[in-house]
Amino acid sequence: MNLVREKIHEFETEDKEKHAYTIAELRRRFSFEFNGMRMHEYYFEQFEKGPKAPGDSSPALRQAVSEKYGSWEKFTEHFKTVGMTRGIGWAVLYFDQKGKIPNSSFGVGEPHTAWVSDHELGTLAGLPIIIAMDMWEHAYMVDYTPQEKSKYIEAFLSNVRWGVPEKRFENSSTA
Ligand SMILES: [Fe+2]
Repeated sequence: MNLVREKIHEFETEDKEKHAYTIAELRRRFSFEFNGMRMHEYYFEQFEKGPKAPGDSSPALRQAVSEKYGSWEKFTEHFKTVGMTRGIGWAVLYFDQKGKIPNSSFGVGEPHTAWVSDHELGTLAGLPIIIAMDMWEHAYMVDYTPQEKSKYIEAFLSNVRWGVPEKRFENSSTA
């Protein structure tokens, strides 16, 4: 990310007009590099600390996704399905404070499970990230073959310290 920034500066200083195309392409690349950094921070933080079982630190996240998807189990099934999307990217659970779960008495806000290609394509504007699951091959190829992607997803879900997403959810829903 810093290199992209430096290169843009270098080209601009040298000749803005001459390097206009290159500068524009580097700008396009900025969100890839920035998100690549930030998404991995979200990712690794999830294994570092906090209660392991879902609902231990706070029931709110569990309640919200159960309301949207039918139950905690149905949510995790859906999350796994999104994680199995072909190609490299991320399965992400977001929380939209402005949304409302259709046909529900649940208060304000709606969780969304989305697929983000690469690190930045398909992100939902302004929504806080609750869970970030890396689905690049480098995330699982040390332990699994590409055909065993679903095993990696199982391992991810069973190793998440659920206190971390629950805290993120608490922060996002009260912000
Ligand atoms: Fe990664």
